[in-house]
Amino acid sequence: MHTNKQILFFLVCISFLLNALHAWGAQSDSLVLSCGLEDGGTDMYGRKWAPDSKYLNGSNSITIRAGFQDPSLLSEIPYMTARIFTSEATYKFQVKTDKRYWLRLHFYPSAYGNFNPADSYFSVTVNGLTLLKNFSASITCEALSQAYIVREYSLAPLDSKTLTVIFKPSSSFAFVNGIEVIEMPDLFDSAKMVGTSDQIDVKGVHSQTMYRLNVAGQFIPPTNDSGLTRTWYDDLPYLNGAQLGTTNAISQNVKIQYKSMPAYVAPVEVYSSSRSMGVNKAINEGFNLTWVFQVDPNSTYLLRFHFCDFYYSKPNQLVFSIFVNNQTAEATADVIGWSGGKAVPTYQDYMTYFTDASGDQKLWVALHPTDETRPEYFDVIINGLEIFKLSDTTGNLAGPNPKPSPMLLQYEAVEKSSFKKSDTSKAKVIGGAVGGAAAFGILAALVFVVYQRKRQIYGTESQTSSWLPIYGNSHTSGSKSTISGKSNASSNISALAQGLCRHFSLAEIKKVTKNFDERQQLTEKSDVYSFGVVLFEVLCARPALNPSLPKEQVSLADWALNCKRKGVLDDIIDPNIKGKIHPECLKKFADTAEKCLAEVGYERPSMGDVLWNLEFALQLQDNNEDSNHSSQCGESSTSDESPKNDTMAMHRKNLSIESEHETSDESIETSAIFSQIVNPKGR
Ligand SMILES: *[C@@H]1O[C@H](CO)[C@@H](O)[C@H](O)[C@H]1NC(C)=O
Ligand SMILES: *[C@@H]1O[C@H](CO)[C@@H](O)[C@H](O)[C@H]1NC(C)=O
Ligand SMILES: *[C@@H]1O[C@H](CO)[C@@H](O)[C@H](O)[C@H]1NC(C)=O
Ligand SMILES: *[C@@H]1O[C@H](CO)[C@@H](O)[C@H](O)[C@H]1NC(C)=O
Ligand SMILES: *[C@@H]1O[C@H](CO)[C@@H](O)[C@H](O)[C@H]1NC(C)=O
Ligand SMILES: *[C@@H]1O[C@H](CO)[C@@H](O)[C@H](O)[C@H]1NC(C)=O
Repeated sequence: MHTNKQILFFLVCISFLLNALHAWGAQSDSLVLSCGLEDGGTDMYGRKWAPDSKYLNGSNSITIRAGFQDPSLLSEIPYMTARIFTSEATYKFQVKTDKRYWLRLHFYPSAYGNFNPADSYFSVTVNGLTLLKNFSASITCEALSQAYIVREYSLAPLDSKTLTVIFKPSSSFAFVNGIEVIEMPDLFDSAKMVGTSDQIDVKGVHSQTMYRLNVAGQFIPPTNDSGLTRTWYDDLPYLNGAQLGTTNAISQNVKIQYKSMPAYVAPVEVYSSSRSMGVNKAINEGFNLTWVFQVDPNSTYLLRFHFCDFYYSKPNQLVFSIFVNNQTAEATADVIGWSGGKAVPTYQDYMTYFTDASGDQKLWVALHPTDETRPEYFDVIINGLEIFKLSDTTGNLAGPNPKPSPMLLQYEAVEKSSFKKSDTSKAKVIGGAVGGAAAFGILAALVFVVYQRKRQIYGTESQTSSWLPIYGNSHTSGSKSTISGKSNASSNISALAQGLCRHFSLAEIKKVTKNFDERQQLTEKSDVYSFGVVLFEVLCARPALNPSLPKEQVSLADWALNCKRKGVLDDIIDPNIKGKIHPECLKKFADTAEKCLAEVGYERPSMGDVLWNLEFALQLQDNNEDSNHSSQCGESSTSDESPKNDTMAMHRKNLSIESEHETSDESIETSAIFSQIVNPKGR
């Protein structure tokens, strides 16, 4: 008996070790390359990116840094450097002949020196398979309202020891910012063809990921995936119509249990949240829970539905129908029937050939309860959804460049006209170079902020929003939309769908404001409000709006003020400066930001006052750092007669944020640190 147990223990240990080795082996097969970056580096999620040069064949490439960091890029790596090809260039990667691989291509269509991404059209092939053809990253990003795009392909075994990825410019130049080649398990088996009863074998297909959604859940970064470095997005932007159903979250005492499927299929987070219709049968009868996706026409798609019911535990408690493009994919979907139990995840694959009969390139997915099997409840449930485009028989995955949707064009038209009557629409635009200083060296050098109240047009129910998924959607709880310019947020926060947010380029802002016309009758005080938002963005290293967060946290302005008033601002500031920023400095900085955000314009300080107070915050930080370093200062520092402390003492007496009318001009003139305000050429 005893020996048996020991042997068993030994075997368990061995298998544990083998697993660990296997995991390590898989890891070492990963190539995560930042193109044109000489030494590699780490991105916002802590992923390591290596240089690409040793895999590249061809001396016709140029390495260039982007001139502008879009605010949705939370770190410089891999997007701020690009490799530009003026003629055909080849990457070669050693792979195993019998394994499936992720190939991810990252594109950030920004200006690179004299290279204008709008001129760039190119193709990308891998071992004869066409991934991109006449591809314009610039047009694609514009149409999708994204700053950058990641194209993710899952390549079936190519029967070759080398993956040969060829970039070929069809005009001007080709470029790429990042390349990932990562071994992966076989994700696909067979799928049911919608409209038939056929199961189609999809083991050997190549696919392109179109959408990957954590339904009713949050953005999941690659580092939080279940081992396959996938990115999962919130489904809200794709929901169609006004009926969003309800969202459900697993309770703490229920644990997700993977039974018949491996955990890499999708992470626990995906199965821990679900969307359903609600409890009212009469209401549920009247609508379909519907998502709409923009896809390329004339292609085959595989849709993977992820399910996990963490409420019910018996078959036929909850049964519903699944429609894909208005065809019945599944008449009686029964999650517990499939999974075998409560909190056990399962998934179903369906295939459809999308011809685009209506011409609007929209793929519809809908769920509706069914009475067919007389289930106990009249509801639906879904936890995750992935949509893959499958390669055709000629080995082609490329589609046409998308066209900006009529909605996007309409939006831009509305934007333009709204600026003309801005006093009624409350639109506020600030453009300005702000040269203040914050002690911790994370101050934005140049900030452009567009702050605007979302107008009624977005509150209408009928819209679909495959474009502008975040800000244009009527369902997001925030009523404000703030788009900020370059902010040096060095952070690892979860930014939902960075790529999915609409970010305005400087050129666009200039266009709609008539050069600051005066996948405007604005008051100075509106500027001050916007700047207050920027201050909190800098302090908390997160965007002004993050719809992936819980409702009360979506708007940074509201959330930060709330935290400040509760005295817990410390909890939400950038971890990188936490502990380094002196409490007094933090207080001054936050007070300043708070004042800027006063509801009524006349309560907000003048920009001069703001700068003044930021300078003061800087002094508080510097001073406290000094006294920390030299022990003899300590408690007695206030009696020190150095000029610096004189200034400080004066500040302590006089400085507080007042409205501009109460600010004494004389006190400004007496202080050297305000020279830069008094003399605008100072900075
Ligand atoms: C690049 O590839 C071509 C064709 O495959 C080959 O002839 C050439 O030697 C390669 N050059 C380098 C530097 O590897
Ligand atoms: C899709 O196929 C139809 C019929 O063959 C054709 O008329 C249409 O132009 C195709 N669309 C695209 C975008 O290729
Ligand atoms: C599906 O039905 C909706 C209306 O219910 C319609 O607007 C849409 O165009 C249809 N989609 C397809 C692909 O037929
Ligand atoms: C739900 O969608 C299906 C397929 O498009 C359609 O036949 C049905 O009428 C829809 N039901 C409701 C209530 O909209
Ligand atoms: C390339 O794409 C552009 C933009 O979508 C399109 O106008 C042009 O006709 C395409 N060219 C070819 C050869 O397909
Ligand atoms: C990712 O995982 C880490 C560690 O489990 C967790 O702290 C973090 O909140 C997760 N991030 C997101 C966006 O889920």
